Amino acid sequence: MAPRSVLRIFLFIVVLTLAACAGDAGEAGPAGPAGPAGPQGPEGAAGADAPALEVTDLSCADCHNDTTLLVSVQARFEASHHATGGSWVRGSIGSCAGCHGSEGPQARIAAGLSPNDESIQGVATTSPINCRTCHDVHMTYTGADWALTGGAAAVSLERSDGTYDKGSGNLCAECHQIRHPRPEATDGMIEVTSTRFGPHHGVESNMAVGEGGMGVTGAPGGHYNLIDAGCVSCHMGENTNHGFEAELGTCEGCHSDIESFDYNGTQTEIQALLDQIKPLLIAEGIIDVTILDDDGEIGNRSVPGTYSEEVVNAMWNYMYVIEDQSLGVHNPGFTRALLEYSLTALGG
Ligand code: HEC
Ligand code: HEC
Ligand code: HEC
Ligand code: HEC
Ligand code: HEC
Ligand code: HEC
Repeated sequence: MAPRSVLRIFLFIVVLTLAACAGDAGEAGPAGPAGPAGPQGPEGAAGADAPALEVTDLSCADCHNDTTLLVSVQARFEASHHATGGSWVRGSIGSCAGCHGSEGPQARIAAGLSPNDESIQGVATTSPINCRTCHDVHMTYTGADWALTGGAAAVSLERSDGTYDKGSGNLCAECHQIRHPRPEATDGMIEVTSTRFGPHHGVESNMAVGEGGMGVTGAPGGHYNLIDAGCVSCHMGENTNHGFEAELGTCEGCHSDIESFDYNGTQTEIQALLDQIKPLLIAEGIIDVTILDDDGEIGNRSVPGTYSEEVVNAMWNYMYVIEDQSLGVHNPGFTRALLEYSLTALGG
């Protein structure tokens, strides 16, 4: 609304109020009927002109300017799994809204709550992950709004004892952590109740610090100890690549001879261990051979039932390494220890 019409409405209200008060001036007596509304007052004097708005006053131009800053990031981001994946719709369910969609995680992280906090509610109109999930976009309308949601505070990992504390990488750990509680044995036996037994899909921060396994005590790997911003250093590089894929160039500072992520054959070695363990789990009856994966191979879904502690622990560690998806890169020593436990527990 133009300042002048606001002023006009304001004056109109003042006139009405004065007209209503005028009848109160006489001696006390019964109140008469309300008089008719007074005539509209004269038009007020023109207010002072509002100061001319310079774009720079609100610093919109910190971001919306003649550079390709936004375009470049948007293009990379739109091709990323964060933007293309379909799991954001789960943000409408309370038990998933801490990590899926945009509104749930954004509010939860800003409030400093853990992902499975009981107060988290599903968001009826959730959105896919977007700039606002991770940045304070349009809060102060200045470049300061690139600040990360929740200030990238250190993250207490909900399902293991420790903390992930690697600068801007902390934001990733808010969601990429073990979701399910670890299984607990009663008299050496554990009941598996779900066909999706395991730690859930994003376990990378627990893996980095060497926690959350069964029957194995781990430790943070060299990558956690030595790389400043953890996930962000390897997955966004110096150019803050919003495609979020790991980049080989980020490895070269320490492994000058590196030619692929399969450095020293580590990924090949871990895949071979997984391939060795899977038939042993199938033989125990804990992997459902009737549910196939996208490649038409037997998947990794579980058969509900009661199994020995060793078998369930072996399955947990196996699923943990599968869900980590880096085939050992995130924490080579701990990954080997998890799978060696599984192999031994299954008599392999
Ligand atoms: C911190 C950087 C930053 C500043 C400062 C900023 N914006 Fe934005 N703006 C963004 C981002 C990021 C988006 C969303 C782009 C996307 O979703 O891909 C956006 C989107 C928009 C849109 C599109 C509609 C929407 O909300 O998505 C408008 C209009 C807009 N901004 C106007 C402004 C105005 C006006 C100002 C200053 C008062 C301003 N912006 C300041 C970063 C900024
Ligand atoms: C709000 C929670 C959240 C945050 C914060 C988050 N992620 Fe994700 N991430 C997800 C979800 C959910 C998916 C899966 C999307 C889908 O499949 O729908 C995902 C997918 C990914 C993928 C693709 C995995 C694949 O299977 O290809 C990578 C890589 C990734 N994230 C890395 C990161 C990094 C690095 C950060 C920190 C800069 C980060 N994420 C921050 C929730 C999050
Ligand atoms: C602790 C945070 C967290 C919670 C809570 C959570 N998820 Fe996830 N979920 C993730 C992350 C992180 C990923 C991305 C894993 C990746 O691709 O690396 C993911 C991925 C997924 C995927 C995509 C899997 C794929 O392979 O593309 C589905 C489906 C999913 N979650 C369903 C759910 C459902 C359903 C719930 C609630 C019952 C839930 N999640 C709760 C963190 C969480
Ligand atoms: C999954 C979380 C995530 C999402 C989604 C995301 N970003 Fe980022 N962004 C980051 C992280 C982490 C950094 C690195 C911050 C740091 O190093 O301090 C970053 C850095 C940036 C920077 C550099 C900021 C600076 O201070 O120089 C810009 C610009 C940026 N993002 C824009 C965007 C835009 C635009 C979108 C949406 C198209 C977006 N981001 C979506 C996590 C995210
Ligand atoms: C040492 C660098 C490094 C660090 C630190 C790191 N990653 Fe990775 N990450 C990788 C590499 C390398 C892969 C395997 C990529 C491949 O094989 O294509 C990977 C794989 C993944 C994947 C599987 C998706 C894909 O693109 O294959 C996800 C999701 C992921 N990392 C998330 C994270 C998160 C979250 C963190 C922080 C808790 C993190 N990573 C820390 C290097 C790193
Ligand atoms: C800051 C230095 C640093 C960076 C950057 C770094 N690494 Fe490493 N990496 C190490 C150290 C130190 C070790 C040995 C300690 C350990 O295994 O935890 C190691 C071990 C490894 C191993 C295990 C090798 C074996 O024989 O056990 C692999 C695989 C590996 N790195 C891959 C990568 C990849 C891929 C990247 C980039 C995405 C990367 N590293 C980035 C320091 C680094």
